[in-house]
Amino acid sequence: LAPVKVAILGPGTVGSEVVRLLTQEAGDLAARVGAPLEIIGVYVRDTSKDRGPHLPPALLTSDASALVAQADVVVELMGGIEPARTLILEAIASGASVVTANKALVAAHGPELYEAADAANVDLYFEAAVAGAIPLVRPVRESLAGDHITRILGIVNGTTNYILDEMTRRGLDYDVALKQAQELGYAEADPTADVEGHDAAAKAAILASLAFHQRVALDDVYCEGISAITADDVIAARETRQVIKLLAIAERTGGGVTVRVHPALVGEDHPLAGVHGAFNAVFIEAESAGGLMFYGQGAGGTPTASAVLGDIVSVARHKATGGKGPLESNYAVHEVLPIDAA
Ligand code: NAP
Ligand code: HSE
Repeated sequence: LAPVKVAILGPGTVGSEVVRLLTQEAGDLAARVGAPLEIIGVYVRDTSKDRGPHLPPALLTSDASALVAQADVVVELMGGIEPARTLILEAIASGASVVTANKALVAAHGPELYEAADAANVDLYFEAAVAGAIPLVRPVRESLAGDHITRILGIVNGTTNYILDEMTRRGLDYDVALKQAQELGYAEADPTADVEGHDAAAKAAILASLAFHQRVALDDVYCEGISAITADDVIAARETRQVIKLLAIAERTGGGVTVRVHPALVGEDHPLAGVHGAFNAVFIEAESAGGLMFYGQGAGGTPTASAVLGDIVSVARHKATGGKGPLESNYAVHEVLPIDAA
């Protein structure tokens, strides 16, 4: 079969690992897809910067639109709203399927992107946008599509969990722990998104939209971060055998749905208290399935690249052998519930 042409936008913490794995695992990936994957180019702002041994300069381009126009699959790993949104829409319009890890974009512009992808009959996959390596979007979007999800609760931001965990277990200062999280590649380009809860709110909005079959916008999510948490708060929690965790909670209530992100006290015997470092853990309750628990690395280049690679294999397989992932219209026809302010 002809190669599936892959364009990468943004070889940063996640993108550089995606390029490395696409190169090193080329043989296995070709077998799983049913056709070879060919990286046709990598979009960067500065083509003269050394990008390491896995990214030959010949692959670098600063002309994103020309690159996108030639691709079968576009992998957006730049982050932010623009130019990511415009380039994804250009990709879809030219018939490419899209993989993205960009929760800020999916939460803010998901409906526009889903509708464009459905109209063009291409895939839009974003497993890596929620909880790093943990398969969560696909279970909510596909595996549980025959069930009624009633509640999603958990830790969905690695940076804040890392900071709170380091403050609790090692007595580190907030600022030192945040700096370490940035150095380890967990934090967003602007870590305000992490510490003020906006990143977790974006993930909660995405999960709630998929779980409850309606569009939950960022403004619908009550959001409070961890920047006001002090060492004294952490010590006071420990003295009462509790730890502080930043939780995201989305649940059906009597008349609708509530979605919120805020710090909470968790008893030290609760499974969430044992979620350390940048790990995430999410509980899902569904009417027929009952309780499910998802746990794993919620941030970092290599774990997140695993989720991106899984999406690339799925959409490339569709390109190579026919097929199509879930349509957004499958998810918008169900009951539309009012969203109560939390
Ligand atoms: P990053 O390390 O900051 O990398 C971003 C890359 O995109 C860099 O190569 C950067 O170029 C490039 N870029 C950014 N804006 C650009 C623009 N306007 N034009 C051209 N290139 C641009 O970010 P990251 O941590 O890999 O995150 C990428 C995406 O994955 C984000 O949406 C993030 O939310 C998501 N994500 C990250 C993680 C994680 O643990 N890091 C986990 C899950 C999801 P330069 O090299 O020139 O700066
Ligand atoms: N900054 C995010 C986090 C990356 O810390 O969870 C993973 O989405």
